[in-house]
Amino acid sequence: MNSNPIAEQTVYLNGQYMPMMDSQISTQDRGFLFGDGVYEVIPVYDRQLFAFPEHLQRLKNSLQAISIQNPLTDGEWLELLNTLIEKHPWPDQYIYLQVTRGIQMHRDHLPEECLTPTLYAYTNPLKAVSDSILQNGITAITLEDIRWLNCDIKAITLLPNIMMKLAAKARNADDAILVSREGFITEGTSSNCFIVKDGTLITPPNGHSLLPGVTRTVIERVAIAHDIPMLEQQITLTDLESADEIWLSSSTKEALPVTRLNDLVVGTGKPGAVWQKMRDFYQEYKLAFITEQAP
Ligand SMILES: Cc1ncc(COP(=O)(O)O)c(C=O)c1O
Repeated sequence: MNSNPIAEQTVYLNGQYMPMMDSQISTQDRGFLFGDGVYEVIPVYDRQLFAFPEHLQRLKNSLQAISIQNPLTDGEWLELLNTLIEKHPWPDQYIYLQVTRGIQMHRDHLPEECLTPTLYAYTNPLKAVSDSILQNGITAITLEDIRWLNCDIKAITLLPNIMMKLAAKARNADDAILVSREGFITEGTSSNCFIVKDGTLITPPNGHSLLPGVTRTVIERVAIAHDIPMLEQQITLTDLESADEIWLSSSTKEALPVTRLNDLVVGTGKPGAVWQKMRDFYQEYKLAFITEQAP
């Protein structure tokens, strides 16, 4: 590894490991032409895959939902991901993996049968969330959720998410929290959403309008273990605006406190007490996981 480790990253493409610079896919790949594929992002702590069974299950669900045959066995997935981890020096990483329906010479919306899926995966160093964010939180705006009706599939087609992220940036916000046409909060552009009201943690129920986040599941597990009251319940815009705390969760950021929403200050304007507790318990959970996995 030289001073630019990204340039020397080793990636996995269709059964082979190679320098990222050398990895190439066909222009007829349906992922390139149609965004016809699904992906996963899996965090790695102290060189151990975190919540791997949950990520693998979600990948299988996404593949099944779009009728792509899972190309690998569980053991083969594990071997692939662990090989990528081994090839890189970073203790904490996050792996991106993508499966597209494969190459089809004649462009047609209708996929040909028996295509061979394209498999791509690579790993990155996972940076800790900055002290400034931990102390001050992030800012968010609310936006109409302009996505489709199958947001539980982790599809690579992310154009609406990109547009909404750009809209947040244009308004000097770090992210957007999305409101469905029915008036309910769904999630962030790349995260799940939680609020705290009178000490109770609330998140919208899983369904087609949001991604079943693995971090969301871990947060629920940690909340139950530490007797933090928790509800899965629809959240309206009014609930969001009057929340004591708002969090956004994802595999690469864990739970982030939102301290400003549109022009409103959230709670005290600083990360809240329940978030602080969750942050500490989440770190304990990770540590226990790492210790358990250690050879
Ligand atoms: C739309 C969306 N919701 C939620 C999440 C959080 O999921 P996870 O906690 O599994 O990273 C993500 C992560 O990328 C996402 O893109």
